[in-house]
Amino acid sequence: MAQTARALDVRTEFAADVFAGLSKSGQKELPSKYLYDDIGSALFEVITLLPEYGLCRAEERLFERHATELVARLPGAVVVAELGSGTGKKTRRVLEALGRRQTTSYYPIDVSPAALLRCEREFSGLPSVKLAGLVSPYLDGLREVARRRPAGAPLLVLFMGSTIGNLERPVMEDFLRDVREQLAPGDGFLLSADLEKPVSQLLAAYDDSIGVTAAFNLNLLERINRELGGSFDVSRFRHEARWNDRERRIEMHLSSTCEQNVHIRRAGISAEFRTGETIWTECSHRFNCAEVVRLGQRSGFRCDTQWVDSEWPFAQSLLIAN
Ligand code: AVJ
Repeated sequence: MAQTARALDVRTEFAADVFAGLSKSGQKELPSKYLYDDIGSALFEVITLLPEYGLCRAEERLFERHATELVARLPGAVVVAELGSGTGKKTRRVLEALGRRQTTSYYPIDVSPAALLRCEREFSGLPSVKLAGLVSPYLDGLREVARRRPAGAPLLVLFMGSTIGNLERPVMEDFLRDVREQLAPGDGFLLSADLEKPVSQLLAAYDDSIGVTAAFNLNLLERINRELGGSFDVSRFRHEARWNDRERRIEMHLSSTCEQNVHIRRAGISAEFRTGETIWTECSHRFNCAEVVRLGQRSGFRCDTQWVDSEWPFAQSLLIAN
């Protein structure tokens, strides 16, 4: 029952966001969090395997090299929460390292039930990990973990994959403050950020040769068709990746290949598109190491350690709540 009520809430919010984003008079937009239904989450898993998309392999290399050092820097009996765990593949090494020390509670938080089921399976063979998945937005899930943690147990929050980069820069700081609010002094926040690199490399990573990222992006329109009774003909939209130099970010757009009208029944909207007009669906910012440290400092953390992968410039920063 509760689940059904929540599913309805989510759908109502989705309809409201689609209405707001597509009725904009200037640039139409859709929030990137809606890319991750079960199909989108599965497509993202494939993206992480693409030769062009080096980000997740960089994350894995860092964990391979530094998981033991990371664990050594954390207090004992740490409770782990992960914002946007997906299937938990990238986190396995950290939990193995923690589990060698003691049994560890792990709360993966994700909006995709299918991804969480796979995550449970991923860790079912690791008896040192006690997993309790939460199908929920990040901050609601984190609030729940903060409520459930045993008194005095330190918390480690993981926010991997440079997902922070999907927020607009001013919002990043607000988000980190909201995370900080759920933490106690001394709690850890491991934050991953993809670093600046040649634009040609980034464009290829977001417009791969076999079209997986295009499918990932276009799935958002099909999701609107499936869940909100939309009439998008996806063959009339084209995936586009752009580099925005001023904001230092990749943007994903869906570009209308003709003049068309789309009706979305459950959002109560008819949207008109000119040829070449786009829907902006995601931004993915690049960082340098110093600005991640400053971002943490401005939101109530100090930076304990930074690990950087040089093959695909990428940083993990261990922030500690003040
Ligand atoms: C969610 C941050 C891991 O922005 O790189 C991948 C999502 N979008 N390809 C990113 C994504 C297009 C991704 N992260």
